[in-house]
Amino acid sequence: MSSTVINPARRIRGEIVPPGDKSLSHRAAMIAALADGTSQVTNFSPCEDCQRTLQCLRALGIAVGQWQTEKGSLVEIAGRGLYGFRPPEGVLDAGNSGSTIRMLSGILAGQPFAATITGDASLRRRPMDRIVHPLRLMGATITACEDRFAPLTIRGGELRPISYHLPIPSAQVKSAILLAGLYAPGVTIVSEPVASRNHTEIMLKEFGADVTTDEGKTSVVGRSGLIPQSYEISGDPSAAAFFIAAAAALRGSELVVRRMLVNPTRTGFFDALKELGVTLDLVRESIVHGERVADVIVRSERESLRQRSEPYLVAGRRIPILIDEIPILAVLATQTRHGVIIRDAHELRAKESDRIRTIVTNLRRMGAHVSEQDDGMIIPGDQKLRGAEIDPAGDHRIAMAFAIAGLLAEGETVIRDSECVAVSFPGFFSVLDHVVER
Ligand code: S3P
Repeated sequence: MSSTVINPARRIRGEIVPPGDKSLSHRAAMIAALADGTSQVTNFSPCEDCQRTLQCLRALGIAVGQWQTEKGSLVEIAGRGLYGFRPPEGVLDAGNSGSTIRMLSGILAGQPFAATITGDASLRRRPMDRIVHPLRLMGATITACEDRFAPLTIRGGELRPISYHLPIPSAQVKSAILLAGLYAPGVTIVSEPVASRNHTEIMLKEFGADVTTDEGKTSVVGRSGLIPQSYEISGDPSAAAFFIAAAAALRGSELVVRRMLVNPTRTGFFDALKELGVTLDLVRESIVHGERVADVIVRSERESLRQRSEPYLVAGRRIPILIDEIPILAVLATQTRHGVIIRDAHELRAKESDRIRTIVTNLRRMGAHVSEQDDGMIIPGDQKLRGAEIDPAGDHRIAMAFAIAGLLAEGETVIRDSECVAVSFPGFFSVLDHVVER
């Protein structure tokens, strides 16, 4: 296991092109595999999680080619139609990737064979009953460890459409049901208590599926074919968020982020930054494959992050649209005037690590005060961070959030097991070197 040393920074300057969005890359690979013919996906995410999705598809008999071009990674997926998968020879391994296991399970539910899918120790601790239950209602036969953990053995077959209300907002669960809905004759409907990211709905439509969304309800008509596409993945806002956060916190910074996905179901963190007094402008906005994309310019001025006169509350329907950015939001909270209160975020305990616990533990190591709550945390503002040894517990977003904390701290910070960033962003530390001024 390697460690990375982070020294304090003066400011952030320059331009970054974030890697292709991880959520879009998983979906593009899976949906293309179900289309009738070959799709090209450009700027495919280089992250380990998305490579897991490609490996699982290969194990299911899909030919996948991958090349490096000057426009990022090009992935060619020879779709074989809804029923073109072959039974895998061994166990499918999703590694650390919740998106791979949950979304692919929806597709496996429609296949006329049995397949077993599992993952690493972290993934095997994460709840899978949230997909097992609705997929069983649709007619799949699924066995799971203690009825709720991977490995999952899924025997698919004839599915029936369901109308399902998600008990918790989860785009992975919603996507699993919509993908299974492709195999059910009739209309499958998913409603959610609070809107989660809507990429599957948008992308299925781009590939020709009959999908409609109305007042929090998404419907898909099953059994129609998907048309292959040339699809360009936009930049990952959840990867860019770390750099935008660093630029927001270090006075005199200016950062341009090129071609970033700005779908409103993903931009909650950027909205929060604006409300905290950060200057953040979107320019050159366009729509690419139904998704909003823009260049983002961040500038940190005198009152950046310090504009509110009371603690800043993040709760309720704002949580799903910034769920992956809560680790970096918690770090920035220490730099605000009156702190940040995060509530209704119990889901953080079911991520790659128990993120409430790993954030609280590591902030305390850096000398910050923070109060751990069952569903969030209370982080007072105006706190100085001091360099420390950080244990990210194998969680990529914790490692990256605390690397940024290290830029803001006094003294040296060591991120243990820092290679875990490759789960979502293999080039993270070299991009950081490129924009940090000391
Ligand atoms: C994702 C959905 C979210 C998010 C994850 C990616 C997706 O998970 O945290 O990083 O691509 O659909 P949940 O569906 O568990 O909320």
